[in-house]
Amino acid sequence: MAERKKMTLPDLFTKKAKGEPITWLTCYDYPTAYFQEQAGVDMILVGDSLGMTMLGYDSTLPVTMEDMIRHTQAVRRGAPTAFLIGDMPYMSYQPSDEIAVRNAGRFMAEAACDAVKLEGGAEMAPRVAAIARAGIPVMGHLGLTPQSASALGGFRLQGKDAERARKIADDARMLEEAGVFGILLELVPDRLCRLITERAGDVIIMSLGSGPDAHGQLLIYHDLFGLYPKFTPRMAKRYADAGKVILDGLKAYVGEVTAREFPQPENYFGMDDREYEELLSLLDGGRKGDEPKL
Ligand code: KIV
Repeated sequence: MAERKKMTLPDLFTKKAKGEPITWLTCYDYPTAYFQEQAGVDMILVGDSLGMTMLGYDSTLPVTMEDMIRHTQAVRRGAPTAFLIGDMPYMSYQPSDEIAVRNAGRFMAEAACDAVKLEGGAEMAPRVAAIARAGIPVMGHLGLTPQSASALGGFRLQGKDAERARKIADDARMLEEAGVFGILLELVPDRLCRLITERAGDVIIMSLGSGPDAHGQLLIYHDLFGLYPKFTPRMAKRYADAGKVILDGLKAYVGEVTAREFPQPENYFGMDDREYEELLSLLDGGRKGDEPKL
């Protein structure tokens, strides 16, 4: 792909205005970021889902700011032009406005992010406003918010009935008033997502498992390629079974080493005869006839 110019917030709003869907994926490491950049992905989220997909925890809750910064820096090195969003981990913004602003600032200063994302509705509006006042673009996240999965009754569809759907729509309005530039709707019914998108003002609505009628789509990278062994959610589409390709390759490697079929001469380097003779005599201390003492 030809060098792309840096993706900015105005570029995203231009796409929205033209009705062009915005593409968004999670990413946690340098090589994957490189490929996502080559594929022309508009936005990258370094999600705290890395706790599950990369670190093997059962939830996102143990993820720290240090984990997030380290992975986000690696992603930025691989994807210099994508619009990069750092996901604020559990308890990096909930305790106070000041803590929220400091940690949002770390994503910008230490990992060259373009924005941050945090979970929650009306109750998080003061945090959003404080971060936005500090000049940091904020993405909200409503519906299934994994940091509150326990309170929400697990990883399930949110806003199924009119009353709960109204709460999500109200939360979206509150976040917009607080100053978010965008809102991710995760796992809400398609009609609720469409309604919120139609009624949104100067804000970009993104869908994760919430239907086609938002301004763009997000998927978890590992779900696209069968790379998360524990489960693949229904909302994900598997574009290739990279997990199987990797496992087959690993089994072949183990088999070949065991059978002494790897390495072959093309996989290693020889040494010139004269140099080798000299090495033997050097190791020998110049004495001929002795076995080398390696
Ligand atoms: O951490 C993450 O990847 C997320 C997505 C589930 C939206 O927040």
